[in-house]
Amino acid sequence: MSRLLETSGLSRSFGGLRAVAGLSFAVAEGEILGLIGPNGAGKTTAINLLSGVIKPNAGRVVFAGEEVTGLPPHHLARKGLVRTFQSTVVYGHRTVRENALRGAFLGLYPGVVPAFLGTLRARARRRETEDRIAELLAWFGLDHLGEAIAGSLPYGRQKSLGMVIALAARPRLLMLDEPVAGLAAEEADQVLETIRRIRQRGVTLIVVDHNMRFISGLCDRLVVLHHGQELAQGTPQQVLADSAVIAAYLGRGHGAA
Ligand SMILES: Nc1ncnc2c1ncn2[C@@H]1O[C@H](COP(=O)(O)OP(=O)(O)OP(=O)(O)O)[C@@H](O)[C@H]1O
Ligand SMILES: [Mg+2]
Repeated sequence: MSRLLETSGLSRSFGGLRAVAGLSFAVAEGEILGLIGPNGAGKTTAINLLSGVIKPNAGRVVFAGEEVTGLPPHHLARKGLVRTFQSTVVYGHRTVRENALRGAFLGLYPGVVPAFLGTLRARARRRETEDRIAELLAWFGLDHLGEAIAGSLPYGRQKSLGMVIALAARPRLLMLDEPVAGLAAEEADQVLETIRRIRQRGVTLIVVDHNMRFISGLCDRLVVLHHGQELAQGTPQQVLADSAVIAAYLGRGHGAA
């Protein structure tokens, strides 16, 4: 198994609070890795560090054999490291299609989109991109909503659009922060199926959640975070049997069993 992403000693504090403290793990190409832990464990901070939204105080991130520690999000996106947000982030006043296009350009040349669109080569590129977006919108059942204003869509649809935006950037590693939070059981099942299909397309995934049952049915391996540190790491079976994990989870109502 070749390693696509590797972190070592990754750390980030806010004031005196050590949100992520010395986190080390690797993700193999083609794997679905679950990052789990109770509220405030540091999951989103870890994703923010890996996606360049914030910079670490210490530690390294190596992606596809190259050190990428501290690079900004659009550089990382161009290299294939892309994430979605826990609270859905869409451009609320723009159409669904415009939102998806922005995702596609995140993987190209952010900030210079208008100039880029002017050239002939760029127009061919744009057609190719539009085809891909049409396919993604259809995949997520949003094809009839391309001209709808994104902010007017129901929550579940906005979450789907968040996935479309991320996939439009052609990720090699996609990080999903709580992809089923706030969804009804039926919608959550659809997202599970979608994540499996994304992997079948050759995309490696890190999926954040605090729901053990959801994550253990989906992931090849889990990294459990607690107070910013690794509590356990292994297959879902190994992790679910880990006494430290059980102690951290039982009584919190997450249902480790
Ligand atoms: N920008 C910030 N400024 C100050 N403190 C922060 C910031 N971001 C996160 N924290 C703190 O860092 C800790 C870890 O937060 P984080 O959002 O990473 O947890 P999480 O595991 O994603 O939790 P949840 O399950 O609630 O989403 C929390 O105590 C949080 O309050
Ligand atoms: Mg979070």
